[in-house]
Amino acid sequence: MISTGLVGKRRPSSSRWLQEHHNDPYVLRARREGYRSRAAFKLLEMTEHPFAGLHGRLLGPGMTVVDLGAAPGGWSQVAVGLVGATGRVVAMDLLPMPPLTGVNFIQGDFLGEEGLQHLNTVLSPERQVDVVLSDMAPNMTGIEAIDQTRGELLAEAAHDFACTVLAQGGNLVVKLFQGPGFHDTVRRARQDFFRVKVVKPQASRNRSAEQYLVGVGFRGQPRIQVTSSDDGKP
Ligand SMILES: C[S@@+](CC[C@H](N)C(=O)[O-])C[C@H]1O[C@@H](n2cnc3c(N)ncnc32)[C@H](O)[C@@H]1O
Repeated sequence: MISTGLVGKRRPSSSRWLQEHHNDPYVLRARREGYRSRAAFKLLEMTEHPFAGLHGRLLGPGMTVVDLGAAPGGWSQVAVGLVGATGRVVAMDLLPMPPLTGVNFIQGDFLGEEGLQHLNTVLSPERQVDVVLSDMAPNMTGIEAIDQTRGELLAEAAHDFACTVLAQGGNLVVKLFQGPGFHDTVRRARQDFFRVKVVKPQASRNRSAEQYLVGVGFRGQPRIQVTSSDDGKP
């Protein structure tokens, strides 16, 4: 995010963070190019990745996009630019987001029943969505086990939602956290999408454990649950 709004006494670690942030080439580039966050470059990079083009376009003109965890709006800006005037972007975040032309923003909790209902109402009657994006991240506590579990819960919820709203052939980009459920999440995505790749965009900070799962070509079929009793083995 570009501005921090931090006031008062700073610990040495936060001063270091601020200095690093202000010298960060992606922060400077975001300011120059009018993006609300450096995160915009992560999504741009993923849309330009050769993998993303293997099954049509990841994001393209006329598409309907849902952007989860959208504030302050970098990914929504990229999405609006790529879907153009014939496309549609519906964005959601717990936090408020300053208005963006072409984006229908909902402030709410994606994990809460009310928030999800609101999102589904806004998407109706054309509930078929071409792309689900999720850059949702929990408030970090610094306790690894808690942060990973919360991050995994958000990624899983975004994946489940994508499987209920995506049109056949649709795409998913979701932020993943390195935790015990990481491989299960990727395995599940391989059942639901023709191609799946886990990427770490250059714009993602090295010290951050975040990675993104890019799933292209939603199969539009119920997931196949393979259990020990139906996998052919005794
Ligand atoms: C890394 S920021 C997103 C940055 C954004 N993609 C951009 O390009 O500017 C993560 C966002 O996830 C949001 N978030 C976390 N949990 C959420 C939830 N349960 N429902 C909605 N948004 C959530 C946070 O409020 C935060 O704004």
